[in-house]
Amino acid sequence: MSSSPNTLFFRIETVHDVSSARRKGLMLAMDMGFQTADATKIAVVISELGRNIVSYAGKGTITVLSQAGDNSRKYIKIIADDRGPGIKNLNQVLDGGYTTSGGMGLGVSGSRKLMDEFNIRTGEGEGTTITALKWL
Ligand SMILES: Nc1ncnc2c1ncn2[C@@H]1O[C@H](COP(=O)(O)OP(=O)(O)O)[C@@H](O)[C@H]1O
Ligand SMILES: [Mg+2]
Repeated sequence: MSSSPNTLFFRIETVHDVSSARRKGLMLAMDMGFQTADATKIAVVISELGRNIVSYAGKGTITVLSQAGDNSRKYIKIIADDRGPGIKNLNQVLDGGYTTSGGMGLGVSGSRKLMDEFNIRTGEGEGTTITALKWL
């Protein structure tokens, strides 16, 4: 009787799109049974990756997948995808404190710390796909 898996898909182009994705991702995480602290971490990651899409790629998508079935371990997965310029200096970005925009440079590195699994596929002219997972 459970909804597994469940998928939310967002086209991301404006900060409004980002806050909508953040809000709906937070509700999904709470519905799955994540505690407020962990659901908030998931919302922060959606927000940071979404803001990066708007700022650096112009547009892209965020997909939030929930695996909430009765017979398997539950998790939530965030996939942020764009066809922008790609992340240069990826190692510095992952170390944190590196920014090309006068920001804090903590969006990607912080998001990685907030999640259980974190994978980046990026290349110049190939765009960026970040996949992040948190177990319930
Ligand atoms: N989707 C993206 N496409 C291209 N570059 C990106 C993307 N996301 C992040 N970056 C690059 O990585 C840097 C660090 O990002 P982040 O950790 O979120 O910090 P901030 O956004 O404050 O600079 C950005 O300044 C930008 O150069
Ligand atoms: Mg950022």
